[in-house]
Amino acid sequence: MQTEFCKQLGIEVPIFAFTHCRDVVVAVSKAGGIGVLGAVGYSPAQLKEELDWIDAHIGDHIYGVDTAIPQKYEGMGETDPEKLVAMLQAAIPEQHRKFAAKLLADHGVPELPDADKEVTLSFSEAQGQLQVDEALTRPKCRMIVNALGTPPADIVEQVHASGRLIGALAGRLKHGINHKAAGLDFIVCQGSEGGGHAGEVTSMVLWPQMVDTVAPLPVLAAGGIGNGRQILAAMSMGVAGVWMGSMWLNATEAAAEPAQRESYLKASSEDTVRSRAWTGKTARMLKNEWTEAWERADTPDPLPMPLQGYLTFDAVRRTHLYAGSGECQKVAFNPVGQVVGQINESESCRDIMYRLLNEYADALEHVQSITPAE
Ligand SMILES: Cc1cc2nc3c(=O)[nH]c(=O)nc-3n(C[C@H](O)[C@H](O)[C@H](O)COP(=O)(O)O)c2cc1C
Repeated sequence: MQTEFCKQLGIEVPIFAFTHCRDVVVAVSKAGGIGVLGAVGYSPAQLKEELDWIDAHIGDHIYGVDTAIPQKYEGMGETDPEKLVAMLQAAIPEQHRKFAAKLLADHGVPELPDADKEVTLSFSEAQGQLQVDEALTRPKCRMIVNALGTPPADIVEQVHASGRLIGALAGRLKHGINHKAAGLDFIVCQGSEGGGHAGEVTSMVLWPQMVDTVAPLPVLAAGGIGNGRQILAAMSMGVAGVWMGSMWLNATEAAAEPAQRESYLKASSEDTVRSRAWTGKTARMLKNEWTEAWERADTPDPLPMPLQGYLTFDAVRRTHLYAGSGECQKVAFNPVGQVVGQINESESCRDIMYRLLNEYADALEHVQSITPAE
C-alpha cells in the first residue's frame, strides 16, 4: 500500500491521523503512518509546547500541523491577533452569552477556575500565520494542512519555500478546484459522514469525483473510514491515502475523560448530526440537548464563525474537563463522524494501525478471490 505520496513524504503506509492530541500524533507516526496535530485550540505558546513535546518523543519520524484559516470569517482583514480577539469578544450578543451559560448551569456543568478562562481559539489568518511560523521552525514537521478554505497565497509560498508540502480539506469539488489553482500539493477530500466540519456529499460519491477533477494532484480520502475494508474501498477509487479523525478519539493515548469516551462508545452511526451550534459552521458531532437547543425556533440562532466558537469556547473546555459532572454529556461538545458506530473499544494507536492493515489485507484477498484470473 505504499503510494507515490508515501514515498514523497517518506512514510511507510498512507494512513494520516488527524488529532488534537500530541500523544496520538507520535504514536501513529511511530507506527508507520503520520500524525497531524490540529492546532485550532492552541495559543502560539501552547502550540510551541506541544511541538516541543512531539519533537522530543517522535524519534526520526515526521508529522504535520493543521491550521484553520476559513475562506470567509467575521473580522477578516484584521492583522493584529489581539485586536481581532477583542473585537470578536465584544461582538457576541448578551442574549447568546446568557443562553449558553444557562444551558450549562441547568445541566450542572461546573465553572472553570479564572486562571483557565483564556480563549485560545485560532480561526483567522493572523492567528494561523503565527502557527505556521512556529511549525516551520520544526524540521520534523513536513506538512501543513488548512481546514475550512484555501490557505492565503503568502502562506502557500512560505511553506513551499521551506521545502514542505501544503494541502487543505475540501468538502465540495469547488474547494478542490480552488486548492489546485492556488498551487497546493494535495487535497484532503472529506465526505459528509466525517467528523468535524463537513459538507453534504457523501464520501462514496465525492472521492472519485475529486480524484478525477484535480488529477494528477494526490487526494487523501476522509470521512467514514474506521476499518481496513473502508480503506480498500477508498484506495480502489484512486486516492493517495486515507485521512482519519474519529477513530483516534477513543484511542488509549487520546486525551479524553471517561464520560466522553463512554458517549462515543455508546453512540451508533445514527446519533450524529451536522450542526452550527458549536463553531458557527456546519460540523458533525454527537446529537444532544445542546445541538437541539440551538435548533429551536424560540432560541437564538448560532452566530457566524468565529463568533459562535468564541461564545462556546468556555463550554467546550468545561464539558471536556468536567465530562462526568451532572448531566454534562447532555450538553457536551463531542465532535465525531458516523464511523462512531464502529468505535466499540479502546485500542492503542499501534493496535489500530495493525488492525487496519490486517483488515485491508483480508479485504484485498477477498476481492482477489472473487475476481476470475485471466
Ligand atoms: C474531533 C474532531 C475535530 C476535528 N477538527 C478538525 C480541525 O480542527 N481541522 C481539520 O482540518 N479537520 C478537523 N476535523 C476533521 C478531520 O480532519 C477529518 O477530516 C475527519 O475526522 C475525517 O472523517 P472521520 O471523522 O470519519 O474519520 C475534525 C474531526 C474530528 C472528529
